[in-house]
Amino acid sequence: MDVDKILAGMTLEEKAALCTGDTAWTTTPVERLGLPAAVVSDGPHGLRRTPENTGLGQRSLPATCFPTASLQASTWNTALVRSVGEAIAEEALAMDVNVVLGPGVNMKRSPLCGRNFEYYSEDPFLAGQLAAALIQGIQSRGVGTSLKHYAANNQEFQRFSIDTRVDERTLREIYLTAFEIAVRQGQPWTVMCSYNKINGTYGSEHDFLLNQVLRGEWGFEGVVVSDWGAVHNRVAALKGGLDLEMPGPKPLRVQAVVDAVQAGTLDVAVLDRAVRRLLEMVAKGQGAQRTQGFDIEAHHALAARVAAEGIVLLKNDGILPLCGVERVAVIGRSAEQPHYQGGGSSHINPTKVAVPLEELRARLGQASITYCEGYPADAAARPDLIGEAVAQAAAAEVALLYIALPSYIESEGYDRQSLDLTEQQVALIKAVSAVQPRTVVILNNGAPVAMGEWIDGVAAVVEAYMMGQAGGVAIAEVLTGAVNPSGKLAETFPEALEDTPAYLNWPGEAGAVRYGEGLFIGYRYYDKKGARVLFPFGYGLSYTSFAYSNARVSADTFMDVDGVQVSVDVTNTGCVAGQEVVQLYVHDCQADLVRPEKELKGFAKVALEPGETRTVTITLDARAFSYWHPDHGRWIAEPGDFTLLVAASSVDVRACLPVTMQVSQPLPSVLDMESTMREWLADPQGKALLAPVLEEMAAASRRLFGEGDGSEGLGLNIMDMFVDTPLVSVLEFRAGALPKPPEAFVADLLQQIRR
Ligand code: BGC
Repeated sequence: MDVDKILAGMTLEEKAALCTGDTAWTTTPVERLGLPAAVVSDGPHGLRRTPENTGLGQRSLPATCFPTASLQASTWNTALVRSVGEAIAEEALAMDVNVVLGPGVNMKRSPLCGRNFEYYSEDPFLAGQLAAALIQGIQSRGVGTSLKHYAANNQEFQRFSIDTRVDERTLREIYLTAFEIAVRQGQPWTVMCSYNKINGTYGSEHDFLLNQVLRGEWGFEGVVVSDWGAVHNRVAALKGGLDLEMPGPKPLRVQAVVDAVQAGTLDVAVLDRAVRRLLEMVAKGQGAQRTQGFDIEAHHALAARVAAEGIVLLKNDGILPLCGVERVAVIGRSAEQPHYQGGGSSHINPTKVAVPLEELRARLGQASITYCEGYPADAAARPDLIGEAVAQAAAAEVALLYIALPSYIESEGYDRQSLDLTEQQVALIKAVSAVQPRTVVILNNGAPVAMGEWIDGVAAVVEAYMMGQAGGVAIAEVLTGAVNPSGKLAETFPEALEDTPAYLNWPGEAGAVRYGEGLFIGYRYYDKKGARVLFPFGYGLSYTSFAYSNARVSADTFMDVDGVQVSVDVTNTGCVAGQEVVQLYVHDCQADLVRPEKELKGFAKVALEPGETRTVTITLDARAFSYWHPDHGRWIAEPGDFTLLVAASSVDVRACLPVTMQVSQPLPSVLDMESTMREWLADPQGKALLAPVLEEMAAASRRLFGEGDGSEGLGLNIMDMFVDTPLVSVLEFRAGALPKPPEAFVADLLQQIRR
C-alpha cells in the first residue's frame, strides 16, 4: 500500500470520512483508491470478534479467554504475558482482526473500580512493563494494539463525563507512567483515549495529553482512537490530537470536519496528519498473513499455564498441597459453574471451559469427592444450601470451598459498592470451617475482597482471580501440588474499605472526582501511614522457601547517567522446585518534595530447583531515582543518598543497600519572587547571595533582643517565624537597611542567579 499516493489522491470528504469509523468495528475504506478497512476488536485478555461489524453486544466468535489482567499481573512474568500476546495475535489473524483493543493500564486507585479485573496493578512500573510485554507479543505477529484508557480513568461511576481533578505531579508519576513505559517500550499502533475529562477537558480533545505529552514527549507515532462514544466535538478532537472516532458510521461528524476545513477553522494540515497516521495503520495491518483457525488446545494450555503461574497462595497452614486425602468435600457453585471473566466489552465467548470440579476429580482419582452448591448464582440467602454443605464438610477430611463473587458484581459500566462477599458466602465459609478446620477457600474475583470475618478460621486461601477459561485446570494443579504457586499480588488487599487511600474522595460528586490522596495510592499510601493491610503488595506464598544472600550494588556511588546494578543470590531452601519474584524498591533518603517511602523500580522472576542458587541482577537507570518536580516542570534526579531495598514483598525486605547518586548536570535554580527564606537557603547560589543580608538581619536582631534568638521580645524564634515566608516579604521589615526597595532588590538577586 502506497500511503503517499493514496493520501495525495483522497478528496476532502474521503479524508474526513477516514477519521470516523465505518461500522462499529471497522475503519472507512476508499475502494476507488484500493484502501481497505481495518478491523478492530476487543481486548484485552482475548478476542471479542463479532461476526458482523454492526452492533456492539452480539455474541462473538469463539476465542481463548485468557486470565484477566489482575491474574496476568500476579505472574510478574513479562515473558509469559508476551506469549499471551502472541497467542491473541494468532487468533486475531485467524479472525481477520487488525487491531486488538487492549491492554488496559489504568491504575487501581480504589479496589471498587468495576473494571479493575481488566487492569494490571496499583503500581505504574509493574503495569507498564506488563503492558509493554503484551503489546510486543501481539505486535510481533503483525497485529496492532490499543493501549487504553488514556488517561486517569480509574472508576466507572459517571465514566462518560466525570472530571478527574488531579495535580500534574500525581498525573505524571502515578497515572501516566504506565502509559509512558508501554508507549516507549512497546510503540502500540494505537492509543485509546478515555471518556472522562481530565482537569476540565475531555480525554478525546486533550491537546496537552495527546499532542504534547503522548506525541511530543514520549514519541508516540501511532493513531489515537476514541473510546466508543467518547467524542463530543469532532473538530475539537482532531485539533486535540484524536485521529479516529469510533464507532461509526457518523455522517454528521464527517460533515462537520469538511465544513470546518472549508470555513478555514480547521487547518487541513491537521486533518492530513491524522489521515496519514490512519493510512499507515491500515497499511501495517495489510502486512500480516491471515491464517485459517488457530490451535485451540495449545492456547487453552497456555491459558492454564498463565492462570497457574498467577494464582496467589494467600494463606496456608500446611494443608496444601493436598496429599493422600481420601474424602474431599467440594463445596461452592463456582466449582461447577466457574466464574472466570468479568462483564462488559472484554467478555469473551470461550472456545471451551475447564470445570474446576472435573479437573480436581481427574487429579484426585483415588479420593471420594462429594459436591454441593453452597450458594446460589445471586446474593440470595439459602440456609438449606449451608446445611447440606456443613454435613458434607463434616463427613470429609478436607473441605474445598470454591467462592466466586456473583458474576454481575464486577463489570464495565459500574463500580462495586463494597469489598464484601455475599452474606450467604460469608455464612457458608464460617459454618463449614466451624465443623471442618481443614477448609481451603478458593476465590474467584477481579479485585480484593474482605476476609476479616472468616480468614482466621480457615486453613488456606487461594486467590484465583478471574482465571480465564482454563482456570479450573490451574486450581486443581495448585491444590494438588502439580504446580507450585508463584503468583504475588500486584495490588494491596486492604482489611476494610474505610482503610483504602481514595475512600474519602470516591467516587466524586457534582461531576468531578478529586484525587485528593495524590501520589499515595496502593502500597505508597499504606507504607506512608504505617497502616495494617490484609495482604501487602508483592505478597504470595509458595510450597518451598527462598533465601536471599549476598545482595550487592555495582557501585556505592554512581553518576545518574550511568545508573547502577543490583545483584542478589536467591536459593531454593525447600524440597520442591519453585519460582520466586524478586522485587527492587527505591527509597529516597532526602528530597525537596514529599515522596513515597519506597517505589518499585525493578523485578525479576527466577525458577529454582530444590537447593539451587541463582543470581538475579536488576539494572536501575536515572529515571528510577527521579520524580516529577512541578517547579522544574520535568522529571528530576536529585543528587544524594538512596536506599535500594531487595524484597520478597513490599513489606518483606531482605536487604538494604545504601547508595549515593551524583548528577552530571546540576539542577537549575527555580527561585522566584515568591520563594521563601527556606527555599533560598536550600539553593546553593541563593544561600551565597543571601549571606550578607542574613548577617545584617542577625545584627539587627541582636541590637533589638540582645544575644538571644528573639524569644525574649516576642516569645518565639524569629528565624522559625520567617523561614517559610517569601524573602521579599521578610525584607519589607528591613526595607530601610536595603539599597533598593525589596522587590527590586530580590529581582537583582534573581538576575544574578540566572546569569
Ligand atoms: C470500552 C473499551 C472498549 C470499547 C469497544 C468501551 O465501552 O470502554 O474498553 O474497547 O468499548 O468495545
